[in-house]
Amino acid sequence: MSLEEVCNYLTFFINGEKVIEHNAEPEWTLLWYLRNKRGLTGSKLGCGEGGCGACTVMVSDYDHRLSKVIHRAINACLAPICSMDGFHIITVEGIGNTKQGIHPIQERIAEFYGSQCGFCTPGIVMSLYGTLNNIEAPTEKDIEDSFDGNLCRCTGYRPILDAAKTFACNTTKKSECEGQQERCSNDILISTTDDKLKPYQNEQNKKCPTLEFPPLLFHFKPQYLHIRGMIRKRESVEWYRPVTLTELLKLKHLYPTSKLILGNSEIQIETKFKNFHYPIMVGITHIDELNAINRDDDGMILGAAVTLTRLKEHLEQWMQQVEPYQRAICHAILNQLKYFASQQIRNVACLGGNIVNASPISDLNPVLQACGAQLKLQKHGRDETRFVSVCDFFLSYRKVDIQPEEVLVSIHIPFTSKDEYIHSYKQARRRDDDIGIVSAGFRVKVSKVNVQVNGYEPEMRWSVEEAHLSLGGMAPITVMARKTEQFLKGQIWSKETMKKAIKYLLEELPLTELTPGGQPEYRRTLVTSFWFKFYLYVCKQLRKYYPEQSEATVEQVPSSHYSATKHYQRKISHGQQEHQLKPHTNKVVGSSVLHRSAYLQVTGEAKYTDDMPMLPGCLYSALVLSTQAHAKIIEIDKTQAEHVPGFVGYFGHQDVPGNNETGDIVHDEEVFVSSIVECVGQIIGICVADTESHAQQAAKLIAIKYENLFPQIFTIDQAIEHNKYLGSERYLEMGNLEQGMQESDHIIESQFYMGGQEHFYLETNCCLAVPLEEEEMQLWSSTQNPSKTQDLTAQALGIPSNKVVCHVKRMGGGFGGKETRTIPPCIAVAVAAFKLQRPIRLNIERDYDMAITGQRHAFKGAYKVGFTSKGMLKAMELHLYANAGWSHDLSFPVLERALFHCDNTYNFKNMKVYGRLCKTNLPSMTAFRGFGGPQGLMTCEIVIDHIAKYLKLEPSLIRRQNMYREGDMTHFKQNLTSWHIPEMWDELIVSSEYEQRLEQVRQFNVEHRYRKRGISIIPTKFGIAFTAKFLNQAGALIHIYKDGSILLTHGGTEMGQGLHTKMIQICSELLGVDISLVRISETSTDKVPNTSPTAASAASDLNGMAIKIACQQLNERLEPIRRESPDFTWFQLISKAYYERINLSAQGFYATPNVGGDILNNRAHFNYFTQGCGCSEVEIDTLTGDSHVIRTDILMDLGNSINPYIDIGQIEGAFVQGLGLMTMEELIWGDEQHKWLKPGYLFTRGPGTYKIPSFNDVPIDFRVSLFKNAPNPLAIFSSKAVGEPPLFLSSSVFFAIKQACESYRQENGIQEFLKLNSPATSERIRMACSDEFTKETVGEKHAEFQAQGSF
Ligand SMILES: Cc1cc2nc3c(=O)[nH]c(=O)nc-3n(C[C@H](O)[C@H](O)[C@H](O)COP(=O)(O)OP(=O)(O)OC[C@H]3O[C@@H](n4cnc5c(N)ncnc54)[C@H](O)[C@@H]3O)c2cc1C
Ligand code: FES
Ligand code: FES
Repeated sequence: MSLEEVCNYLTFFINGEKVIEHNAEPEWTLLWYLRNKRGLTGSKLGCGEGGCGACTVMVSDYDHRLSKVIHRAINACLAPICSMDGFHIITVEGIGNTKQGIHPIQERIAEFYGSQCGFCTPGIVMSLYGTLNNIEAPTEKDIEDSFDGNLCRCTGYRPILDAAKTFACNTTKKSECEGQQERCSNDILISTTDDKLKPYQNEQNKKCPTLEFPPLLFHFKPQYLHIRGMIRKRESVEWYRPVTLTELLKLKHLYPTSKLILGNSEIQIETKFKNFHYPIMVGITHIDELNAINRDDDGMILGAAVTLTRLKEHLEQWMQQVEPYQRAICHAILNQLKYFASQQIRNVACLGGNIVNASPISDLNPVLQACGAQLKLQKHGRDETRFVSVCDFFLSYRKVDIQPEEVLVSIHIPFTSKDEYIHSYKQARRRDDDIGIVSAGFRVKVSKVNVQVNGYEPEMRWSVEEAHLSLGGMAPITVMARKTEQFLKGQIWSKETMKKAIKYLLEELPLTELTPGGQPEYRRTLVTSFWFKFYLYVCKQLRKYYPEQSEATVEQVPSSHYSATKHYQRKISHGQQEHQLKPHTNKVVGSSVLHRSAYLQVTGEAKYTDDMPMLPGCLYSALVLSTQAHAKIIEIDKTQAEHVPGFVGYFGHQDVPGNNETGDIVHDEEVFVSSIVECVGQIIGICVADTESHAQQAAKLIAIKYENLFPQIFTIDQAIEHNKYLGSERYLEMGNLEQGMQESDHIIESQFYMGGQEHFYLETNCCLAVPLEEEEMQLWSSTQNPSKTQDLTAQALGIPSNKVVCHVKRMGGGFGGKETRTIPPCIAVAVAAFKLQRPIRLNIERDYDMAITGQRHAFKGAYKVGFTSKGMLKAMELHLYANAGWSHDLSFPVLERALFHCDNTYNFKNMKVYGRLCKTNLPSMTAFRGFGGPQGLMTCEIVIDHIAKYLKLEPSLIRRQNMYREGDMTHFKQNLTSWHIPEMWDELIVSSEYEQRLEQVRQFNVEHRYRKRGISIIPTKFGIAFTAKFLNQAGALIHIYKDGSILLTHGGTEMGQGLHTKMIQICSELLGVDISLVRISETSTDKVPNTSPTAASAASDLNGMAIKIACQQLNERLEPIRRESPDFTWFQLISKAYYERINLSAQGFYATPNVGGDILNNRAHFNYFTQGCGCSEVEIDTLTGDSHVIRTDILMDLGNSINPYIDIGQIEGAFVQGLGLMTMEELIWGDEQHKWLKPGYLFTRGPGTYKIPSFNDVPIDFRVSLFKNAPNPLAIFSSKAVGEPPLFLSSSVFFAIKQACESYRQENGIQEFLKLNSPATSERIRMACSDEFTKETVGEKHAEFQAQGSF
């Protein structure tokens, strides 16, 4: 090839603007390029692994074969910049902004309250933009499905879905029959999803406005591309993009070790997280043979580079065109594609990549093996083509039968023939965007035979001619169950054969507790369950194809058993919100003012810490972390790190100018470890370099020698065994426990474990430290706790606090995770910046953030409870143990809150509750929304549930009859006033139609053998106040400028919860000005000092009161002019006041009276209790453990809400976060139950392994009401705090699931109480559904089996 034919630069367009890039590095991702080279910071880095969607952009190119422009939403964090040649890249900035006008998608998401912290929002906007550009007339279903690659941790998704559905083409029809107008009567506003869609239904032009495709690109002719990288001269990376198969084969011949790249979805993970280095990369996107899709009578021939999206489109077409029996293979592949990764990944990832990647848990490979697909491999030279069966392709873990010079050209997939049946299965932790735990492809070919039945005349039956059983997730490769296949040949298709085959399957698919991935019993049970489902599926198909003969030839199966073959089909979700209108006396407080940053967030203009522009001379840093769980540091060698280009320095404990000891309450931590590490991930030092990647590279090269120390303790039970606790026992007592027990008719004892939870704020920890003159240090940090950051930094630097200023503009979510654990990394950066006297920034990426910054505490509750035969509570003794990790952090207040909440809403009369903090070699566990409350509440509800099951009574009856009454005293000696729970409960029982639905659930369960439903209703009370009395204080500073504009600053931080919006409402209400005049710039310790963390749900109460006090002062000062000139406008008033030399700046300070916890004296006093009730109905698949929420109703008492839609957003968001806690979010640590992991390591350190609820998990029918006519005299504008309390109502889902499992167990004759630990993951649900299959995998004691967990 001549040099002229080779192009060595990239041509693409970004937001309509042409870019010719001569200096691209093949290692750069599109996201890095956009953010760092083009300053387009709207696209966010949430995970870097394609799992959160925060980086979503849309790319378009002209397809000459189809003569049309193809648009697709993709993950910019996975796409190599070199793959963008010839594309038009559209980012969130390109479609609209607040200056020139925003796009309808941005407008609707903002105006439907679909953006809280806003960090996920640009990605969500762009996903929808991609869908609307791709689908001519999208239905509501298309739109709901389009978000499978996006996560949001704040909103609970409902408002985003409502906003998105306004673009659907089928809303009109639906609403005509079902919708109602937004209703407003008696000051009550009810609004449903359909109501919200109404104004958009008749829009003539629903089409989403699109940025024009650059005309130049219509004529873009892809050329052979060769980009030579310059980053590391010794290890430079090269990118080739051949455009013909001949060129590709030649390249492969020349560079056999080169890496072929298509979607890069696997390779990016390898290079970023596994440190693989590929010096030569070959993009294979533009080769005709690899993109070809053909079909003949026998099957389909798919080019290896065909993307999964194209594959899906073709399969859907072919489903309509081929013979009915041929469709089975299309259906089996489509079934796997439905939940394969996400839209963004499927748009770029190819079938060939999935095959060659050879993941043992691939979703598609089992189907390809089962159907007998063939691979065509080719290499340079004549006749160098080889065909290999997929069944023989996988050799060992990630090793395949492909030679270095070979290229996978195409895949031949045969159609199913007559009397041949194929089906695929997958079970994952979460349905959307999750790799399977086990996946399977089963195919049988059957034929009719005559058999002698019980010695009578021969009868016709179906016999197995061929069987092909392939499984993923059961071995280091996708495996065929050869022995089982052999056994099946010639067998009659019957339940007996199915059962016998199970024995073979289990024999040839052994797993042990050391098998990577764990869950041996569950995985083996899934295999048997899938096989059983397949047995029924084939029976059903035979009945379908041979209806007249089926009675005689196919085994009789009760109709209720066919529920096993039912697939999850999600209905379109729907929401309803109900609240009172604002009091007539208010102007803005009580109205649903939009989040003040909503428009900035939807357009990507909102700046987060990592979006701040680079300062001159600014350096980057990366933390050096402990790799051992408990060890002594013997030596630190930085020699290799010093050779990294751009390396500036390494700093450790000797470099701390002030005090190396640190910690939030107890100073039991070190800024940098000096000698003993107590967990994996402790900060030992920090590396500073000219670029982020150099700093990260250097940090990895700091060589540390350790001497391991023992014991190494990871779990609560190990800590109890070794008597390893932090501090002393905490204890609360009420009444006379012994007497209560004696008066009880029954006493039961048991224990319950609840796992921790990762915050998974979308924005990870970030900070920037800027040293100034006279030892001053300015910090910008993503923290909920600026004052503590200031204090502890000053102590570490050995300077007074007046030299440190901490600024917080906004956070991309916090949830308690940024209350204290943001501080240690921030101090580390400040120390380095102080030493070097240069600005330094640190962005802790998702995997490190999850591994080192602590989570919600796992708890164990051991209880003994006494009660009467009618279920009246008499006495409870409870021992709570929290897994605190290695240091105190906030663990004591967390434990205390658990103890204060372990009565939930019930009068136990006599109680003794004890709490202990277990010291383990895990990162320090910390605050998380609810702050120990959910763990205490959950244990209490487990106790209530146990009593109900013991007495065989409805749990709702036990709950209702034991509820506290007005004036009752709690076990911490607080009298309950304004107690609404009984009334709210009764109201929700009626409005949720609980009784009728309970009956319907029972009926459903009778009719469905393998799918069960459950319904549960749960109350909650949550005490509002910091239990540490001194924290119940707040300050505010208001400046009114001469032009009448107002700058408000208060002590709270904005993390999406709408605090600033509410504070602006309060300020404008009290000063009597329009809200547009009031602005909050940031939270900063030089404006309001000594602030408490934004936590405990108390920020609105505290800061709102401080603002009120400041406003009162200003109003008093302005009063004389107002009296004198009552007709003055605000501007005239302020102007006059200025000239009259009136002080237009005021500071307010508030301390909540009569609050605080005093556990040592057995008492606490909260300001008041936020109360609520929630009812949920669920359905489970008893054979796989899959579950979904059918409907949730919540009734929440928020007094007079300051901003109803923001508050409802908090309720929905908290509920869905709680849903994760209760059902799918599982932290897996290297501990005694997970011996396949390195001790103390967190396995679940990214969205790939740790699953938070996705769009698909929202209750299908989600109704939220605010309790009416209950003003709260104890807080600002009679409101109530909302942030944490609703989270616990998600336990209604847990108990509904438990009930569904119990229904199945009862059918199987199991009466004993089901001990179900939390979260109720698919694994726990399946294993709780004890049946003939669990008996095969677990043994006789299967009904007592407990799945593993890190507690
Ligand atoms: C967030 C996320 C979710 C995922 N979810 C799933 C899931 O649900 N199920 C699942 O099975 N997988 C999943 N994966 C894995 C991955 O997306 C798939 O394996 C995908 O099909 C890989 O295709 P790709 O084009 O991105 O491959 P690439 O990353 O570009 O390449 C993968 C490998 O294949 C090789 N290769 C590609 N084409 C050829 C060829 N023609 N000849 C020879 N070698 C070739 C490459 O050299 C490389 O080794 C997920 C990955 C991510 C990041
Ligand atoms: S940052 Fe790209 S998907 Fe998370
Ligand atoms: S608004 Fe979605 S993550 Fe915060």
